[in-house]
Amino acid sequence: CKHHQFLKDIPKCEHHLHIEGSLSPSLLFRLAETNKITLPTDDLSVASISALESRYDRFEDLNDFLHYYYIGMSVLITASDFESLAYEYFSRAHQDGVYHAEIFFDPQAHTSRGIPYDLVVSGISAAQRRAEEDYGLTSKLILCFLRHLSASEADATYENAVALGHFSSGMVAGIGLDSSEVGFPPEIFREVFHKAEVAGIRRTAHAGEEGDSTYISRALDICKTERIDHGIRLVDDGDLLKRMAQQKTLVTVCPLSNVRLNCVKNISELPLRRFLDEGVRFSINSDDPAYFGSYILDNYCAVQKAFRLTLKDWRYIAEGAIEGSWCDEDRKNVLL
Ligand code: ADE
Ligand code: ZN
Repeated sequence: CKHHQFLKDIPKCEHHLHIEGSLSPSLLFRLAETNKITLPTDDLSVASISALESRYDRFEDLNDFLHYYYIGMSVLITASDFESLAYEYFSRAHQDGVYHAEIFFDPQAHTSRGIPYDLVVSGISAAQRRAEEDYGLTSKLILCFLRHLSASEADATYENAVALGHFSSGMVAGIGLDSSEVGFPPEIFREVFHKAEVAGIRRTAHAGEEGDSTYISRALDICKTERIDHGIRLVDDGDLLKRMAQQKTLVTVCPLSNVRLNCVKNISELPLRRFLDEGVRFSINSDDPAYFGSYILDNYCAVQKAFRLTLKDWRYIAEGAIEGSWCDEDRKNVLL
């Protein structure tokens, strides 16, 4: 776009990125071959990179995407596979001007197919260390619970991470909630979120992506989340919007994801102007870049094209993203 270089140069923080959603079709087919994984022929008979990309172009909604997302990640077997996946993401993010990334992972999607939890974390951690050494890119890991699974399965996943010292060591910085939203409200997971709050562990949840604004208020009021992922339905509740502005609760918006999954028809329908005018803090993110064909800078460019923001707006967005990050104050001061 016209402002490409300016937008690229903005020091970015990414807060809404599913590492499994950065599995490119080329890495997917490469790992399937190396690991001798037979992909299901009814769905992934689209056995070429371009055929798969064109199927990705036609997602109907969140669940249609998730179907492909869970099949895709079945090629991830060894710690080195997870390291390759994450390092590929960090390299791309670095090119787009990302200085700090807080990335989601879905342990239950791996443990349910016999891949040990600590193997997943050790692979991703190795990539995090290399990205910091090679690019100066700092990062945090956020463990997400799959909301289509039960509260007791979420609890077992949480306790396993606690037992391994992953929260106390900082190897995992916080918890999140993702997968199919409608029909799986946040309060199902109130107990595990309460435990995390007591233990001083950071908390976020996907809310208000396809679900209505009560998914957002229930995440905040019942699960005591400190952030809201997506949150685009916030505009349906003016009081809640004002409260979030006042409390500086960060909303991690994923514009091109919302278009691809038909949450909105056009980026211009997103409430970003309203957020800016009312002082709601938000960051702009890619969500599942390999599935949506768009990385973080593509999202920045798409927002600029739709909203023609000013320098002042961009400064506000960039500062909000740094301030809303879960890194320590020293790192924030370097970025600000
Ligand atoms: N898992 C990966 N991407 C997701 C999204 N956008 N919403 C819910 N769950 C997800
Ligand atoms: Zn997401």
